[in-house]
Amino acid sequence: MISKGLFSPLLIISISFLHYASFASASSSINEQEKLEAESLLKWKTSLENETQSLLSSWSPSKTPCKYWVGIGCSSNGSSIITHINLTSMGLTGTLNHFNFTSFPNLYSLDLHDNSLHGNIPPHIANLSGLAILNLGSNKFSGKITHRVGDLVKLEVLILSKNLLSGPAPYFLGNLTNLSILNLGNNHLSGSIPVEIGRLRNLTELRLNLNMLNGSIPASLGDLLSLQVLSLYGNNLSGFLPKEINKLTNLRLFFLSNNSISGLLPENICHGVILEDFCASNNRFWGTVPKGLKNCTSLTRLRLDRNNLIGNISEDFGIYPKLDYVDLSYNNFHGEVSPNWGKCQLLTSLKISDNQITGKILPEIGESSLLHVLDLSSNNLEGEIPKELGNLKSLYNLTLSRNNLSGNIPLEIGTLPDLSYLDLSGNNLSGSIPKKIGDCSSMLYLNLSNNDFHGEIPAEIGNLEWLQVALDLSRNSLSGEIPWQVGKLIKLEILDLSHNQLTGSIPSSFDEMLSLRLVDLSYNQLEGPIPDNKVFQEAAVLGNNLGLCGNFTGLKICLPSPLKNKKNRTNIAILITIPFLGSLIILSMIMGFLYVVRKRRRNTGSEMRHSNHGNLFSVWSYDGKLVYEDIREATENFDAKYCIGIGGTGSVYKAKLSTGQIVAVKKLHPSQYAELKDQKAFVSEIQALTKIRHRNIVKLHGFCSHAQESFLVYEYLERGSLAKILKNEEDAKELDWIKRIDFVKGVANALCYMHYDSIPSIIHRDISSNNILLDAKYEAHVSDFGTARLVKVDSSNCTVLAGTYGYIAPEFAYTMKVTKKCDVYSFGIVTLEIFMGHHPGELICSLSSSSSLSSSETSSSLPSSPHEMLLRNVLDNRLPSPTPKVAEEVVAIIKMAFTCIDANPQVRPTMQHVCQELSTPRQTLSEPFDEVTLGKLLNVNEIV
Ligand SMILES: *[C@@H]1O[C@H](CO)[C@@H](O)[C@H](O)[C@H]1NC(C)=O
Ligand SMILES: *[C@@H]1O[C@H](CO)[C@@H](O)[C@H](O)[C@H]1NC(C)=O
Ligand SMILES: *[C@@H]1O[C@H](CO)[C@@H](O)[C@H](O)[C@H]1NC(C)=O
Ligand SMILES: *[C@@H]1O[C@H](CO)[C@@H](O)[C@H](O)[C@H]1NC(C)=O
Ligand SMILES: *[C@@H]1O[C@H](CO)[C@@H](O)[C@H](O)[C@H]1NC(C)=O
Repeated sequence: MISKGLFSPLLIISISFLHYASFASASSSINEQEKLEAESLLKWKTSLENETQSLLSSWSPSKTPCKYWVGIGCSSNGSSIITHINLTSMGLTGTLNHFNFTSFPNLYSLDLHDNSLHGNIPPHIANLSGLAILNLGSNKFSGKITHRVGDLVKLEVLILSKNLLSGPAPYFLGNLTNLSILNLGNNHLSGSIPVEIGRLRNLTELRLNLNMLNGSIPASLGDLLSLQVLSLYGNNLSGFLPKEINKLTNLRLFFLSNNSISGLLPENICHGVILEDFCASNNRFWGTVPKGLKNCTSLTRLRLDRNNLIGNISEDFGIYPKLDYVDLSYNNFHGEVSPNWGKCQLLTSLKISDNQITGKILPEIGESSLLHVLDLSSNNLEGEIPKELGNLKSLYNLTLSRNNLSGNIPLEIGTLPDLSYLDLSGNNLSGSIPKKIGDCSSMLYLNLSNNDFHGEIPAEIGNLEWLQVALDLSRNSLSGEIPWQVGKLIKLEILDLSHNQLTGSIPSSFDEMLSLRLVDLSYNQLEGPIPDNKVFQEAAVLGNNLGLCGNFTGLKICLPSPLKNKKNRTNIAILITIPFLGSLIILSMIMGFLYVVRKRRRNTGSEMRHSNHGNLFSVWSYDGKLVYEDIREATENFDAKYCIGIGGTGSVYKAKLSTGQIVAVKKLHPSQYAELKDQKAFVSEIQALTKIRHRNIVKLHGFCSHAQESFLVYEYLERGSLAKILKNEEDAKELDWIKRIDFVKGVANALCYMHYDSIPSIIHRDISSNNILLDAKYEAHVSDFGTARLVKVDSSNCTVLAGTYGYIAPEFAYTMKVTKKCDVYSFGIVTLEIFMGHHPGELICSLSSSSSLSSSETSSSLPSSPHEMLLRNVLDNRLPSPTPKVAEEVVAIIKMAFTCIDANPQVRPTMQHVCQELSTPRQTLSEPFDEVTLGKLLNVNEIV
């Protein structure tokens, strides 16, 4: 929904000063009823919280509600009576206490979902006697649901989900026999499910999930013969499932999980073979799986895990061509893993852990080529792990722990590109740990403990640069020294090598494993000093070795060794933290950085001292000083000919290091670095940023600080920035519509990731076509994430940008507050830019000025109103017209981009919303692409 006040903050402000009482003097063409309705709405508007009133800026007394007010729809017979109010997702805050429901006898639908409305649902809502649709979902309404809702007998849709409503589940809805959708899910309703709900014979959808309902499920639900969706999960329901449930043969989705329901599963639940999703997990169902489920070929998801089900698993389940997800874990099934699962061609998750399954893992499982998760742990499986698992190219989680599997790990495991969780612990596997395991470049968790592996730990384990959750090789018969490469696992949090026969000393490379939280190296034959690493001093389990030493409790004191003395490090002038790809470097900058800072404070202008820092970083064959020199040399002391870009915060150079690796070095303007407020926070920020890995985010290798220069070291991307590509005719042509669509998706993914998946979430603050880079395949990589905040922002710069509709959200000019919605705005601009081929500056100016013109001034000076401009005329004319299929996508994306640049940040979608939108399939265009106008995409005054 886009308000009339798009791009015009001034308009929004001015309207909120007008008082609804002045309505009387407005146009006389408005009839009495419409006048009453308008007055009531304006009165309600003034009761809303001050900040949110401006969201309803189009609700102006001087304009007719039916034509101009956002979210208002009127009867189509020209009588100007309001029939629809739809104010979803507008960020409204306030209550309904001042909403005069009496004024809307003809209201058909009231949809206020996804706002921040609070208070009770007022009893006089019953005055909306014609109401068919009431959606107050996703707000903060509280208290009991007023029984007067039961008087709205015309209701067909009643949605009150995701609120804070409490009290007993409403018994008073029994007269709402027209209801087809009833959703009270996700509230605090208590008591039992009212028997009266069984009277709502027309219900197709009943959702009471995630409440505090108890008691048993009433038999009357069996009367709801049209029911397609029945969702009761996440309550405290108990007792048997009534046999009447078997009458519900139209069910598509049936959710019972997380209750305490007992008895047998319903026999006829898939009678019509339309059941798609059946979740009964975490209950007390017993007995065998109903025969009806064996032939239920419509199933896409089946969850029966965590019950007391029995039966032969290889006989009770069939072949499900649509099945995506099945979980049968934590039951008492016996029998073998049926080859049928391999024939479920769409299966992505198969979990049968914690049962009594026997026999071998059949090679047929390798046919289910989309499988992401295979969990057969805690059973009695025996024999070898079939090498056919190597065909499961999408496999992400392979958990076969706690069985009786034997033989070697098949080398094919190393060919699984996405494998992130591998747990083979608690078996009888033997042989050596294959070097190939180092090829699983996505590995986050590796557990091979409690087996019979021999030989040395392969050095290739150090190549698992993503390994983070744990590396557990304990309780095997591993021997030899711990390879120093294990120290390359700088993200690793848990390391357990205990109960082996490892010898030698702990590699000094372990000093750099700064993420470690738990370490167990006990029961080996290790000796020598423990690493200079906090976790080793405080939390490591190191007992029962030959002779580890250190200055800490329970250990012998080592013979003095200057190399292991922490104070020595203060002699290092420069350090870099660069977890370089592959073989290059991983260096900690913290110590050096803090030192530089301290040193600068102590003796200003001191000359750089070269230091002999022993073998501190010898394992990396590089040290901070060397990297610094390397970069200087590679750029011939930052010669202009290596400069590939100049931005607000610094100049970017291309540097080919002596190792052959090419990096991009961003040299910060001296003023920017000098002003840093909190050095320590800065260091930890940079550290966090170097750990981010996302295919659409340019990797930050590290930061280097030096008395004269400070720079950030990034992954180098060959095609440079979007701005550069768009300026070049040939490159721009190469970047076709499909590539541009993918590019936008890539940028959106990067932003979603940083806003929602990264902890803490990170706002970019400076998205523009200059810092979104392209790789050889024209894929988007967002650069400079998080760093805009770290360097001093030149405020004069910002205001200029804001004033010229650059990339900075307009509200930033007044609020000086950076929010996620600022990134959304910049994202919208970049999206328009890539489809138009240039910055949309002028277009935005003309759109915004035309929409803020009052009705008396016409925009006759313009050749045509920008709203009537054809979309095809603003798109990059260097490309041929998109094909119809692509055009659908382009139209949808441009439309979304326009909401992203709405002047009102609350109207803008979240990045999460954008990502969802971008991944949903498109509807066909309602009119030919050539006739789509911008006005249409702007959706101004959309009546719903
Ligand atoms: C709105 O602001 C006025 C004065 O600034 C204040 O008196 C009033 O209580 C506020 N109303 C609400 C709903 O916040
Ligand atoms: C209200 O508008 C939203 C967003 O356009 C739409 O998804 C929803 O279906 C509308 N509600 C009704 C009752 O038409
Ligand atoms: C609500 O509107 C009705 C007519 O639409 C009017 O008679 C009544 O006085 C209004 N109530 C309040 C509290 O303003
Ligand atoms: C349903 O309607 C009947 C007749 O109009 C009325 O007597 C009864 O009280 C109503 N039931 C509920 C639960 O409101
Ligand atoms: C149920 O819906 C049908 C049409 O779908 C309608 O004809 C019938 O009157 C409705 N029944 C009730 C009790 O409202």
